Amino acid sequence: MSTSAKPREQWGSRVGMILAVAGSAVGLGNFLRFPGQAAQNGGGAFMIPYFCALLFLGIPICWAEWTMGKYGGRFGFNSCPAIFGLLGRHKVWRYLGVLGLLIPIMIYTYYVLIESWCLGYAWMYLYGAVDLGSDPNQYAANSTAMFNNFTGANQDGLMLDGKLHISVIVWMIVFALNFFLIYRGITKGIESFCKFAIPLMALCAFAVLIRVLTLGTPNPDKPDLNVLNGLGFMWNPHDKGGGPWYTALGSAQTWLAAAGQIFFSLSVGFGVIVNYASYLRPKDDIVLSGLTASSTNEFFEVCLGGLITIPAAFIFLGAAGASVTGTFDLGFKTLPIVFLYMPGGRIFGFLWFFMLFLAAITSSLSMLQPAIAFLEEGLAIGRRASVALLGMITCLGSLFVIFFSKDLAALGTIDDWVGTVAIVLLATVQVILYSWVFGVRRGYAVAMEGAELGLPRLFNFIIKYVAPAYLIFVLGYWCWNDMPGKIQVLREQQVPFLAICVVLAVLIFLLILIAVAGRRWQAETRDTTAFRTKAFPAEVVS
Ligand code: PFF
Repeated sequence: MSTSAKPREQWGSRVGMILAVAGSAVGLGNFLRFPGQAAQNGGGAFMIPYFCALLFLGIPICWAEWTMGKYGGRFGFNSCPAIFGLLGRHKVWRYLGVLGLLIPIMIYTYYVLIESWCLGYAWMYLYGAVDLGSDPNQYAANSTAMFNNFTGANQDGLMLDGKLHISVIVWMIVFALNFFLIYRGITKGIESFCKFAIPLMALCAFAVLIRVLTLGTPNPDKPDLNVLNGLGFMWNPHDKGGGPWYTALGSAQTWLAAAGQIFFSLSVGFGVIVNYASYLRPKDDIVLSGLTASSTNEFFEVCLGGLITIPAAFIFLGAAGASVTGTFDLGFKTLPIVFLYMPGGRIFGFLWFFMLFLAAITSSLSMLQPAIAFLEEGLAIGRRASVALLGMITCLGSLFVIFFSKDLAALGTIDDWVGTVAIVLLATVQVILYSWVFGVRRGYAVAMEGAELGLPRLFNFIIKYVAPAYLIFVLGYWCWNDMPGKIQVLREQQVPFLAICVVLAVLIFLLILIAVAGRRWQAETRDTTAFRTKAFPAEVVS
């Protein structure tokens, strides 16, 4: 029994579907965020909490999201509010599903902007427009000035001061491209694009990696600055306080950073996997597919993200130059100096930023689809109208971020509250819904349908007990350690406060839409909270 009125959208092929999910996962988080987090939190030592978070949070929650999405898809639902209501059989869950819309929408507003910086930089390298001057002592200052100028980080309103700033034009192009692809739909838009973009991204990444690993000792006067020491600088286990390396493991901050990185990187806790999995067919495998997509992400993150930026910076600039400060410093300010010294730097600069752009666009597409799916199924307004409405909301949000660009304050605030805390909150909601409300036995049965790889039995225990405990620790620690400071900032500074108001306005708007959608589903006897059955899913759906 399928309750959907119109034919369901489905992935065209398994490879395409895995590439789309991997495309969502592999993004700026792998190449810009990961190296910084690892280097700041113990280098090699960071990998212990990192792999624990992968095994006990990332992969289990990822499987739970795939399962919930696939289950919802059978009833013709593709959005978090509908699917959560269906699984939880209560309206509260439908409203909690708002997080699966709010988070991707809000992250999109700033992610698409960074994506456009990448394309802008790639363009500048291609046309030889990157000029850091001829005095090596001024390279760092000039590179920072170029970044600040391009992103408007010096002053609010700079980018929208009447004339069309070049970066605003690039942003418009990238924004339009995202919506063009989303408008084309799951198979013709997202899937076909990922099938070509991901192999191309991998090629660019390998080309840059091979260049970095074959640099040897480019400066004979400084034999210490070589590839091996560059890798050691990044990966030797250490403690940032200067103690023995294992003391890094005693810091809750390290465990928190590792969990945050896993969530952000795997696209877990955003509601996007639930949405993507809802386009599967009943017999499609989710266990192996989920594992393949996650492993692809890990390969890009650890083997490519972890071997390029910091070692390259060390080889040319030494330890001081390779030390990480902000998330964007390494990729956008330090690497342009590295490319200046590197033989063939202009072409490798282009490849690096173009690769970042491809990685980012396959992720940003996945942030738009959950809301499109909701508008289509909740308000029945058709693709054109859904795309227009979402385009308007995200365009206003993005313009807000572009306007309040001084010190990237608006971007940073949304990233802090939505990209860091809200995702852990949504993951907690999902874990409770999956294991305590829907039930791990039912979930297991759904996951195992069509599975080519057995789901380990231990999975039920992890998702029911270990993951919630882990999440509560992460949330609790954040509330205790970070929240007071963040609230103080909201009290004292205008832009962060305004940014939170924007997030709340979008939240309220979405909650109203969910109420309207709920009424429609009820009127159509598709009320997702009314599937009151104790039967196993396989018996409910033929
Ligand atoms: N996983 C992406 C990255 O590593 O850059 C980020 C991301 C993708 C965030 C999809 C949110 C999302 F919905």
